[in-house]
Amino acid sequence: MTDPLRILTIFGTRPEAIKLFPLVHALDADSRFISRVCVSGQHRDMLDQVLAIAGLAPDHDLDVMQPGQTLDMLTANLLSGLGQVMDAEKPDWVVVQGDTATAMAGALAAYYRKIPVAHVEAGLRSGNIHHPWPEEVNRKIIGTIARLHLAPTETSAEALRRENVAPETIHVTGNTVIDALHWITRRIGQEPALAAGLAELEARFNGKRIIGVTSHRRENFGGGLEAIAAAIREIARRDDVALIFPVHPNPNVRAVMDGALAGLPNVAMIEPLDYPHFARLLDICHLMLSDSGGVQEEAPALGKPVLVMRETTERPEGVAAGTARLVGTDSRRIVEEVTRLLDDEAAYAEMARAHNPFGDGRSVGRIVELLAIRP
Ligand code: UD1
Ligand code: UDP
Repeated sequence: MTDPLRILTIFGTRPEAIKLFPLVHALDADSRFISRVCVSGQHRDMLDQVLAIAGLAPDHDLDVMQPGQTLDMLTANLLSGLGQVMDAEKPDWVVVQGDTATAMAGALAAYYRKIPVAHVEAGLRSGNIHHPWPEEVNRKIIGTIARLHLAPTETSAEALRRENVAPETIHVTGNTVIDALHWITRRIGQEPALAAGLAELEARFNGKRIIGVTSHRRENFGGGLEAIAAAIREIARRDDVALIFPVHPNPNVRAVMDGALAGLPNVAMIEPLDYPHFARLLDICHLMLSDSGGVQEEAPALGKPVLVMRETTERPEGVAAGTARLVGTDSRRIVEEVTRLLDDEAAYAEMARAHNPFGDGRSVGRIVELLAIRP
């Protein structure tokens, strides 16, 4: 019998944790692997929320989060910390996901040690290195380094082939976010109390259509966030809607939103929701207004229209399926598009259809079989 393969899975932020916990569960349960997990702690409370619900206890925690951390300090700390963990663990594969600073530094530290990298959610491209910033460059760096490119869709696989990535290293697996969504839906089905914490807000907003809001993109700091806040104020003038807005803890986001939206009776600015409660918000909302990457994938799967407050998207599949629409960050445009969905039943029905362009919920099984091939 051959020795088990040592896999070091690295993540640090909420979305990476959500998209990787199903893979860690599968690796832990498979005797072909010795699965080790290193969290960078790039996020703290938002990361810990996911670790708790998924029942993960990382083997390493670098705890790098500093309030309002700059990209250069963050990246420097990540690179040296992750390198030390790799020296101790000597993995056969390093697994990273997506396009965060943690993922990019993890890939780079592995490259410096000639450890092969498997990139989950490979090949997303907006074509603009400033949107999203700095994620477009992070994923291009990881794409240059990775030995195994686990593309969620044919579109992302094609983007890699266009960049001359060796075709035999690219595999279309679907996005693990759908595996995560199925898992959390099953968990809530078994234990509804996990997602019952919104009951008070649901009662307060009874009879109103709920708009779920998230916003955190760095490229929207300095203008974009203010415009988003102005749009929310305008939408909140209607008394037939209520907005539930779990506010990202980044101080740049908090300062703008607290200043612009405090005291509006039908806007609930709340702390970040844990994953079961966010799944509940997706379930009860009429539509989502978001600049998030993950929400663009989850909302189509649930048939919830999502208006994407960004100029470009690396996830054109949701737009092509008709469930997502790019609305930018111009206040007037955001208000117009929300108003259209609220007042035009046909326009709403056109978008509110479940599509699964991002996966079938069985991505993890495909990824595990690819990792089982000794690099
Ligand atoms: C990061 C990722 C981004 C991803 C996003 C998901 C980078 C460069 N950015 O952006 O790609 O879309 O996460 O949310 O990798 N904070 C807390 N508690 C937390 C998390 C954050 O207080 O649990 C605050 C801290 O002040 C921290 C700040 O938010 O300094 C920014 O966190 P950071 O990870 O640097 O950037 P995000 O904007 O969260
Ligand atoms: N999410 C969550 N609680 C919240 C907001 C979002 O659990 O209050 C989840 C959401 O379901 C999705 C992910 O976090 O899976 C998206 O994370 P985020 O928007 O922070 O990052 P991005 O996807 O833009 O990188």
